[in-house]
Amino acid sequence: MSRHATQVGIVGAGPAGLLLGHLLHLNGIDSVIVENRSREYVIDRVRAGVLEQGTVDLMQAMGVDAGLQRSGLRHDGLYISFNGRRHRIDLAGLTGGKAITVYGQNEVVRDLIDARVGTGRPLYFDAKDVSVGDLDSTTPSVRFHHDGTDHDLRCDFIAACDGFHGICRPSIPDGVLTIYERLYQFGWLGILAEAPPSSDELVYTLHERGFALFSMRSPTVTRLYLQVPPDEPIEHWSDEAIWNEMLRRMTTRDGWTPNIGRIIQKSVTPMRSFVAAPMRHGRLFLAGDAAHIVPPTGAKGLNLAASDVLVLGRALKAFYERGRADWLDEYSDVCLRRVWKAQRFSWWMTSTLHRSPDETAFDHQRQIADLDYLTSSHAAMTSLAEQYVGLPMEVSFESVGL
Ligand code: FAD
Ligand code: DHB
Repeated sequence: MSRHATQVGIVGAGPAGLLLGHLLHLNGIDSVIVENRSREYVIDRVRAGVLEQGTVDLMQAMGVDAGLQRSGLRHDGLYISFNGRRHRIDLAGLTGGKAITVYGQNEVVRDLIDARVGTGRPLYFDAKDVSVGDLDSTTPSVRFHHDGTDHDLRCDFIAACDGFHGICRPSIPDGVLTIYERLYQFGWLGILAEAPPSSDELVYTLHERGFALFSMRSPTVTRLYLQVPPDEPIEHWSDEAIWNEMLRRMTTRDGWTPNIGRIIQKSVTPMRSFVAAPMRHGRLFLAGDAAHIVPPTGAKGLNLAASDVLVLGRALKAFYERGRADWLDEYSDVCLRRVWKAQRFSWWMTSTLHRSPDETAFDHQRQIADLDYLTSSHAAMTSLAEQYVGLPMEVSFESVGL
């Protein structure tokens, strides 16, 4: 048994855990990150692509933006498409110059792992049988098995950054958390294709046959999504069937259509809205997907992980530097204000752009009217733009020493 100690034990090396580890490092706070998957698996997992302005600014302020500056694609606008027409929303023009940046989550994770390794601070991949305990005490523990050795890591605090399916949230005793949840009757089939993007900006489409989304990863790789039933087996979809359906839903009357290419990755993701509150129990703090999930339509999940980390970083810094515990106590309430606004936005984007099996003709006409209003009203476009580029972070960069 190897016994060791740290200030903050971080469970999970996704965006939340890695960002928190680096933020703590910049403030001279010790941490150990424990991840149950391999380094390759974590880096290769294809997920998010859209970074809000505030997430980009945070990565820049933390000095982990070299790859983002080199290969991130800044988008000043996006398109909403319905009834065969694309309508552009000028994100930058409507928000005083803010934008989103398309940069794959796997690139973000790769950059953050490199930064972590560069600090020389511990990061265990392939940890087995990870568990957390003594959450009510002042020395909670993270236990795991790594490379033939059992580890008992004593911490001042544990940051639960282990995603929706992690072990930290289920370790909180029954009755502590209130769960708010909504399931959807559809999922997304996502592909990466070796095809140059045929638009410089994202296109969100509502079609009679359902939602479709055009995105990208680089000047040579297109990323596309299609609404499908939530439990749809990916084997039911040949590459040809995927392209037929993508083009059918996305092609507009003016002839705009995605470029076709070899499909290099495909998978189906179910969708849910989920919040566990409070985001804390004793000395365990939930951050990112471990605490909340949004359906991906608003592109908010990774960005919420980043804003949670900023709030947690501020609280831990104030605790260690000034003995202040009040910001730890406020952590959950401060995070949840922003989380619920992103929940509302993601639910709205999702319900406005997808077709539900039980919807009526009235519901569909209301959706079209919603989109017609959105794309013709300056006020409505401004509202979408300020939410899409990201509502303000709840705490300042100065409060974490940036
Ligand atoms: P995760 O990325 O899930 O990381 C958790 C980590 O913990 C993982 O590495 C996991 O292996 C590890 N772990 C799990 N269990 C254990 C354990 N027992 N012990 C140790 N480690 C463990 N968000 C956006 O902001 N923009 C987008 O454009 C966007 N698009 C998306 C598209 C799709 C198709 C999907 C599925 C998601 C999308 N998201 C998007 C959401 C985004 O991917 C997540 O919100 C984000 O990954 C959350 O980061 P996290 O670090 O909290 O959790
Ligand atoms: C991407 C993912 C999203 O969830 C979204 O809303 C927009 C783009 C993407 O993977 O590129």
